[in-house]
Amino acid sequence: MKNSDVIIIGSGIAAMQLAHNLSSSLFVRLITKSTLSNSNSYFAQGGIAAAVSSDDNYRLHYQDTIEAGEDFHTNEKVLDLVKEAPNLINRLINSGVQFDSDEHGTILLGKEGAHCRNRILHCGGDATGKYLMDHFLKKVPKNINMIENEFVYELIIHPNVNKCIGVKTRNSKGEANIYFASHIILAVGGVGGLYAYTSNASSVAGDGVALAYMAGAKLTDLEFIQFHPTLLTINGKACGLVSEAVRGMGAVLINDANEPIMAGKHPLNDLAPRHIVAQEIYFERSKGNEVYLDIHMIKHFKEKFPTITAMCENYQIDLSKGKIPVAPGCHFFMGGIVIDEVGRTSINGLYAIGETAWSGVHGANRLASNSLLEGLYYGEKLASYLNEQTNNNVDHSLHIQINNQTKKRKVHLPNKLELQNKLMDCAGIIRSKMKLEELKIWLGNYEIIKHKNLHLDQFETEDIQMIFMLITAKLITEAALLRTESRGGHIREDFPLKDPEWARKHIFHTKHSTEV
Ligand code: SIN
Repeated sequence: MKNSDVIIIGSGIAAMQLAHNLSSSLFVRLITKSTLSNSNSYFAQGGIAAAVSSDDNYRLHYQDTIEAGEDFHTNEKVLDLVKEAPNLINRLINSGVQFDSDEHGTILLGKEGAHCRNRILHCGGDATGKYLMDHFLKKVPKNINMIENEFVYELIIHPNVNKCIGVKTRNSKGEANIYFASHIILAVGGVGGLYAYTSNASSVAGDGVALAYMAGAKLTDLEFIQFHPTLLTINGKACGLVSEAVRGMGAVLINDANEPIMAGKHPLNDLAPRHIVAQEIYFERSKGNEVYLDIHMIKHFKEKFPTITAMCENYQIDLSKGKIPVAPGCHFFMGGIVIDEVGRTSINGLYAIGETAWSGVHGANRLASNSLLEGLYYGEKLASYLNEQTNNNVDHSLHIQINNQTKKRKVHLPNKLELQNKLMDCAGIIRSKMKLEELKIWLGNYEIIKHKNLHLDQFETEDIQMIFMLITAKLITEAALLRTESRGGHIREDFPLKDPEWARKHIFHTKHSTEV
């Protein structure tokens, strides 16, 4: 058994910002189930939104955030976030981050969907996430012990005090470990891996939802999933993100007949909010048409978008023809573990930050480039809070053992692709009671997820991961069935409009209840 003051689970930007801002007197373990370079943050192309130009201000950033998210936010939290954005950027610059700038040193600001101003700061053209994460990883403080390829499969909760006191893990050799700490933080990303089409890192598959749910924490807004309009699509497979910044530079979505598919659909045309663009592409493709990004008007595309260029070349797309085939896919999870203004969950000692958390800043659909911003903001906020805590005594009064029997229990589970196709088909951009019921019945075939107190020690690691995916899928399906309106990332075919009755209603889940 190993003790530390803080355990951070995950290695994206929220985790790194937290780690870098924690006091050096705290001993911190950062545990990631994959490698440090396999996170959604690492793959982020667009950048960080902040009102830093002279023609911009935080009120405009606030309005754009509220409009894109369909006025479903915790408004004061959005205000705090956008007000702090320029200060966060300044602190990054002071720590050595060099955002892309022109020959006079003026920062180049990109534009993305639903922003009324150019306000996206970026690095290396379209390699912002990689640049920032490498920046953080280059100077990891000495008090942080980084553990890769170790999967956290259980949060240990002290039943007498409803406090999270530790975690159980398995490493890549299948060896089990228990770690105790005073403060345990989930920063494990969203749910992209549940869907057949996704821009997410392969490791991101609902762990946060499942771990928090099993531990008894409160979750909300699980029905709100953002589908990014433009994933590179080859032979019916999503192969990676084509940043919205490409449309920000003038690219236009066209069909097989070279007709612009967004013309007349929204005042912002190709830069309409993501759900609107994603739905139009979905409709066009359901007619049997392909959809392309017409990029011929973008001068020096390769220099501006080196990551996208390399990805296209890897799939033998000839960019000189000026067309990139695209389709929408799961990109971002607006729901998650309910947190307060510093990242505390409903369980003492357990915190959540980044995409796995529900902070109230994204509403029913996140504004482009507000996610790295959210990670930076809450990473810093939580660090300040934890640095002020004086009671860092590790509580391992509970006698915890791992039942590490070598012969693991086998249960009936689906394969991953089957689950991903089912979610894409029934709980994707277009949903209906009929399709969601179909999914619910299919999920009901897997008895194991009906148990409220699962003893996960007895299963193989891959089986636990599938159980996590099933639990998360079940909660998404239940929430999506309950919300009988269309808002944010998806459309309910049977309830195609926003319903004022639902305008301020959130669906909350715990292990014991679901409440509106
Ligand atoms: C993109 O580059 O299009 C994605 C940026 C984001 O999701 O905020």
